[in-house]
Amino acid sequence: MSIRPILIAPDPRLKAVSEPVARVDDEIKKLVDDMLESMYAAEGIGLAAIQVGVPRRVLVMDLAQKEGRREPQAFINPRILWASDETTLVQEGCLSVPDIWEDVERPSRIRAEFLDRDGTLQAIDAEELLATCLQHEMDHLNGILFIDHLSKLKRSIALRKVQKAKRLEKAS
Ligand code: NI
Repeated sequence: MSIRPILIAPDPRLKAVSEPVARVDDEIKKLVDDMLESMYAAEGIGLAAIQVGVPRRVLVMDLAQKEGRREPQAFINPRILWASDETTLVQEGCLSVPDIWEDVERPSRIRAEFLDRDGTLQAIDAEELLATCLQHEMDHLNGILFIDHLSKLKRSIALRKVQKAKRLEKAS
């Protein structure tokens, strides 16, 4: 396993629409393992393949990581089958938009299907943080960042903050 660098907005590659995975082979399993290691190293709870520059429909997630446990999950070719009309406002952040936290409104509950790391088709009913996180990560596969759900003004303020932090980091 190896840690891969995470792309930071406004990197144009983050806007790419990712391609479906035709077969869950060793290359995809290696990608999943590297993504998990990269996510843990960055102390994130979710990561999409495009965030490490790979335009494939692959996500990893571990919501237990905040409590110091490890329950890694992979979602390959995930697809939303149903979403509730009811929505919730949850504060989101993203490893590609460091140190920015903003409320985003999304359906409260979703049903999704995906292939797991073994290539087996699975279905999941998600609510609360899992539903939010899955929708956030699935957005990445379509080139959408959580700040794209904000007003134009809030989005440009967020991007300016990220760029300023990047410049300071380079200068130090
Ligand atoms: Ni993200």
